[in-house]
Amino acid sequence: MSSNVYEDDTIVATEIAGGRHRELIGGLWDEMGPHQLAFLKGQGLQPHHRLMDIGCGALRLGTLAVDYLDAGRYFGSDISESLMRTGYDLELSDEGRAKTPWSHFRASPDFDLPDPDSPVDFAIAQSVFTHLPLNHLRRCLAQLAPKMASGGRFFVTYFECRPDQDLFETVLQPGGIVRTRDTIDPFHYRLDDLAWAIDRAPWDFEPIGDWGHLRGQMVCAYRRR
Ligand SMILES: C[S@@+](CC[C@H](N)C(=O)[O-])C[C@H]1O[C@@H](n2cnc3c(N)ncnc32)[C@H](O)[C@@H]1O
Repeated sequence: MSSNVYEDDTIVATEIAGGRHRELIGGLWDEMGPHQLAFLKGQGLQPHHRLMDIGCGALRLGTLAVDYLDAGRYFGSDISESLMRTGYDLELSDEGRAKTPWSHFRASPDFDLPDPDSPVDFAIAQSVFTHLPLNHLRRCLAQLAPKMASGGRFFVTYFECRPDQDLFETVLQPGGIVRTRDTIDPFHYRLDDLAWAIDRAPWDFEPIGDWGHLRGQMVCAYRRR
């Protein structure tokens, strides 16, 4: 039995029916959407770029990214089609939907990502691999590589277990709100684990660290060779 609530269609359906899709993806709607877009812009995202939002949920970032990017440049993927559909129907504006066809979204439990018309320049998975065992990140990196432009970067947020912390104990994350474990969601990882996940896929690992996440998640980048 998984502890990842997003894999449970009944829970997801109940929360959506209750109008709680924003809470289901972690709340902080008005904080974490702008925070992600500002971060990506700071990393060089421009309107002509293509962006793949992996584990995009109800489009907390998507609503803002679709407004910022040129038409047809945003792509999203999530394990839950109903979460994405709720975001598409309730959170995007009419103009946003006109700029972004529903075919730009693909639901998959194992990162069968949408096919962009050209390789994407940026990708992000915000608060996704904090809920998943590490093999998922390895699979995601392998699946994303063929859809990513050379030099493009994939930003992944994670909870860190620092070298001075015990991997097998509960770790209280920066900010003092979230407690993480190695085997239970939310998961923590060592930096070495994140580099390991590349396996044989064509990526270079670039640690970044603190990006001002309100619940203590760090961020790293994978650069497509
Ligand atoms: C905390 S929410 C974050 C959503 C979004 N990235 C954001 O910042 O608003 C985690 C998301 O990861 C998705 N997710 C969980 N397991 C997944 C998997 N195996 N593949 C793709 N998405 C997954 C969930 O459905 C959910 O939308």
